[in-house]
Amino acid sequence: MKQLKVMTIFGTRPEAIKMAPLINKMHESDRIESIVCVTAQHREMLDSVLNLFGICPDYDLNIMKHGQTIVDISSRVIRGLENVLKEEKPDIVLVHGDTTTTFMGALSAFYQKIDVGHVEAGLRSGNIYSPHPEEMNRKLTSSLSSMHFAPTIGNYNNLVKEGVSKDKIFVTGNTVIDALLQAVEKDYVFENPILNGIDYVNKKIIVMTVHRRENWGQPMENIFNAVNEIVKCNEDVEIIYPVHLNPRIKDLAHRILSNNKKIHLIEPLDYKPFANLLNKAYLILTDSGGIQEEAPALKKPILVVREETERPEAVEAGTVKVVGVKTQDIINETQLLISDENRYKQMARAINPYGDGTASEKTIEAILNYYKY
Ligand code: UD1
Ligand code: UDP
Repeated sequence: MKQLKVMTIFGTRPEAIKMAPLINKMHESDRIESIVCVTAQHREMLDSVLNLFGICPDYDLNIMKHGQTIVDISSRVIRGLENVLKEEKPDIVLVHGDTTTTFMGALSAFYQKIDVGHVEAGLRSGNIYSPHPEEMNRKLTSSLSSMHFAPTIGNYNNLVKEGVSKDKIFVTGNTVIDALLQAVEKDYVFENPILNGIDYVNKKIIVMTVHRRENWGQPMENIFNAVNEIVKCNEDVEIIYPVHLNPRIKDLAHRILSNNKKIHLIEPLDYKPFANLLNKAYLILTDSGGIQEEAPALKKPILVVREETERPEAVEAGTVKVVGVKTQDIINETQLLISDENRYKQMARAINPYGDGTASEKTIEAILNYYKY
């Protein structure tokens, strides 16, 4: 049987989590030849996801350097992909979301006149400098793509408004929900002794992550000062913070938070324990994109420490609140959720704006129909 050659290109943890279910489904299809190329913009954080989902890349550009800049990533990805694309000549390249790997992957394919499919297309904050460079990476990737896989109707509408032809947009849901449903288990037991020693029933456990470029420096200090204050004022609150490996973040987090016994600074978690930690948490404090999609499906309130979000669906549904990056605002909003049971219950509702676990199937069906395979 003639097979459609599909190359996935990705490089960071969130891209890997969201591409993995799609890749594994493509491997099951006898109509697709699936080639996986990782840029390794992330290294350890990427490898742990590849291991979990049993993905063995055909190509690994291994580009990560400590303290890399956007220009470093861009130049290494575009240089590395040139020969890979020349050698493989895929029918379509799939990229995901908004990272520099995404945009450079799409641009590399475009230079060789290879079609691009954009998974997780159409998210917009409306501000090209926030998130930076992600908002622009997404817009530019849209311009380079022939197929756009939009997680929600809102994302579809954003693309239509920008002039993308409707027959090129496919509303699929977000593959993150496919991954989440595979990862979360009832009665999950952690291997990490710190996580196993925590009383998730009687304590209010806040899971926190921060990494966005806009938050580097003062905003991140504000966030850390806020959480120090929150645990000081609330006997029953503890914070678990898997710290991103970026040295800018690690150093600051350890400097401001490491003396506080109720704040557990740990290494980034593998996806399975992290998803299960979200499932046991009381609330989530984060600037992550992916976590804003996962936590609503798990009935967990989220406070987003950013000025805006490109994921408005859960905000509109009332389970996500964007609280900004001022210390006192973060303290006030968190305190309300800790002490006002009604408010907590209003936010702790399961909603599913980002999909039902079938986004990978829908994406593959759309690709095969499009190419008439
Ligand atoms: C990148 C993406 C961002 C995405 C985030 C997900 C860009 C410009 N940024 O940001 O959109 O939200 O990934 O986490 O594409 N590091 C390691 N090991 C790892 C991963 C990172 O040591 O496995 C350290 C390295 O020192 C690296 C630094 O973290 O230089 C920053 O990584 P980078 O990919 O440049 O930026 P992120 O902030 O992770
Ligand atoms: N995540 C993880 N381990 C952690 C922290 C996060 O596996 O220690 C997962 C999380 O569940 C989500 C993804 O990583 O699926 C989000 O990645 P990140 O916040 O780094 O990037 P973003 O989504 O903001 O681009």
